Formats: sequence, structure tokens, C-alpha cells
Amino acid sequence: MALLLCITQWDVGPWLDRLRRLAPGRDIRAWPEVGNPSDITYAALWKQPPGLLSSFPNLKGIISLGAGVDHVLSDPTLPDVPLCRVVDGNLTTRMSEWVVMHALIHLRHQRDYDLLQRQKLWREIMPSPAAQELRVGVMGLGVLGLDAIHKLKVMGFDVAGWSRTPKQIDGVRTYAGNDLDAFLARTDLLVCLLPLTPQTKGVLNRSLFEKLAHDGVLGAPVLMNAGRGGLQVEKDILACLDEGVLRAATLDVFETEPLPADSPLWSHPAVTVTPHNSAISDEDAVGRFVLRQVDRHERGLPFEAPVDRTRHY
Ligand code: NDP
Ligand code: OXD
Repeated sequence: MALLLCITQWDVGPWLDRLRRLAPGRDIRAWPEVGNPSDITYAALWKQPPGLLSSFPNLKGIISLGAGVDHVLSDPTLPDVPLCRVVDGNLTTRMSEWVVMHALIHLRHQRDYDLLQRQKLWREIMPSPAAQELRVGVMGLGVLGLDAIHKLKVMGFDVAGWSRTPKQIDGVRTYAGNDLDAFLARTDLLVCLLPLTPQTKGVLNRSLFEKLAHDGVLGAPVLMNAGRGGLQVEKDILACLDEGVLRAATLDVFETEPLPADSPLWSHPAVTVTPHNSAISDEDAVGRFVLRQVDRHERGLPFEAPVDRTRHY
């Protein structure tokens, strides 16, 4: 009975050390040092090589090391065992920090002030709206979207949200499914916290940007995406920025990651790039979560954050 860590694009070392320290009695291995494939009963993953999991005949459960599972589900040979994703206060808080920080940066024109500082120019940028004048729209009202909404509201933003199924959130206007256009029409700053699924792929495109509010206090709408790069059409973002359909974009996720050196997004003056770290998966917090899921499942209990494969999230 072994737990296999299979991580690509991150350094597996700190994860392995942390898990072994947290559970010294457990057999924990790190791909590619798998040993006997029959020993592997649980796998904790970040972007596993396709086909790997189908080689473990005794696999009982799979745990994504992130909140998203598109990287796991993209493997067509994925064994039909229960799948769990990370739902953890540490990760959620980090995402909300990113959302609130970048919303404030746009509200307060901080990127423009950075530029003025470099030129030693003492100038005020007007108009300077208050948070309550900025209509923020959050796409995705799951674990992350709900926490972000709560914290944006604390800062005073005029917040609404959109999700697949209807939601009721105290003091927040919510929209569902086909109400997307009405949601977009009242949104000055769009925050995307959707999962990547066949239904959401490419949703952040020109047609959607054109439906955002164009009468808001920032002059033109702003896009923030920390969901997944596959949600956005980068050539549409760039064209819409250049045409004034969008005022600015803050992106944590990209069609190709790491963002290629020749991507025009790096140097576009209206684009802020962060390296898919809006909600860092903390080894200690996520490690404890993973071990708790394995313990639960071994005792016959369900995972705490099971994924519905038919919904893809
Ligand atoms: P949840 O599963 O809790 O929430 C997903 C939300 O998206 C739900 O409200 C769901 O609607 C909504 N949704 C899904 N499909 C659609 C659709 N077709 N139309 C409208 N709404 C839809 O996920 P989390 O909040 O935990 O995480 C969201 C995503 O954030 C992850 O999947 C991941 O891709 C990304 N992420 C990015 C990180 C980063 O570092 N950049 C870190 C962590 C996560 P409903 O409520 O009706 O089901
Ligand atoms: C996640 C991520 O899904 O970090 O948690 O992207």
C-alpha cells in the first residue's frame, strides 16, 4: 500500500520531504521511482504523464494537488477510481489575496503610478473612483469565487457573480447559466475563477469582452483571469486591448505555460503577468489535506472534495 507522488513542472523534492515528515510510517514514493506498480494504491498528482495511472492495477483513489482537475482529466486512460481535488483554506485565502490586490491595483491606477514614480513625476491620476463605484463580476461561484466575493465586498466593491446553477449570496446579485449577458452588461472588472471544462474552454473571447460594460468608471472594462489559460483566447485579449474594448488584463494563467518568451503578453503595457501562482499550493497545507484524504478513504469514508467527472470539475 503506497502513495505515489507524481509531479511534473514543480519540484517534487519538497513535496516528498514534507509528506514523509508528516506521515513517517507511510510508504510514499515519487515518480519516476515507482517500484512495483502493484504497490500503488493512491496517487497525488500535478500534471501526470498521460497513461501512467493505468499501469497501477491496485489504484483506489486519485488526488489532484491543485483545486483544478483539468490536468488530471485530460488523460483519456484515467482509471475509473474516485477523484479528489484540493479544497483548503490556505489555498483559498491566497487566491482571494490575489483577486483583491489586483482589483485594488486597477481601481487605484497603481501601474500608472509605478510609471510616474520611475519618471519622478508628482501627479494625480483622475478620476479616482471609490471601490463602491466599480462593478466587479466574478465568474465561478465555487469555493474560490465565493471567498473572493466575500473579501471584495469587505473592500467595498459593487460585486455580482455568475455560475452554472443559481446561487443566493447575501447582498450580492447573482446570475446563472443563460443570464451571462446581463451579468456582463453590469461588469466593469471581470474576475474569472472558472474551471476549465469542455463548456468553458475559450469563454474569455472577443464576443464576451464586447458585452462587458463600457460606461464604467475605468473607461473600459478590465479582465482578470486566474482560472485556467484554456479559458482565454489570447489573440482576442491582445486585439481588444489595442482597440480599447478592454482597458487592461491581469493574467495568472496562459494558453501555454510557462508563458513563452516571445508572447506579446509579456511586454504589453496594459497586461500584468503573474506566473500561475495566484494560489500557491502550500506543501504543508496541501500535504496534510492529501494525507487526510488517504486516511479517510482507507477507513471507507469518501473524499472531502470529490470531483464529479460528468461535470469535469
Ligand atoms: P469549484 O468547483 O468550487 O467552483 C467552480 C465554479 O465554476 C462553480 O460555481 C460552478 O458552477 C462554476 N462553473 C463551472 N462550469 C460552469 C459553466 N459552464 N458555466 C458557469 N459556471 C460554471 O472550483 P474552485 O472555486 O475551487 O476553483 C475554480 C478553478 O480555479 C479551478 O478549477 C482551477 O482551474 C482554478 N484555480 C487556479 C489556481 C491558480 O493558481 N491560478 C489555483 C486554484 C484553482 P456551479 O456552482 O453551478 O457548479
Ligand atoms: C490549482 C492551481 O488548481 O494551482 O490549484 O492551479
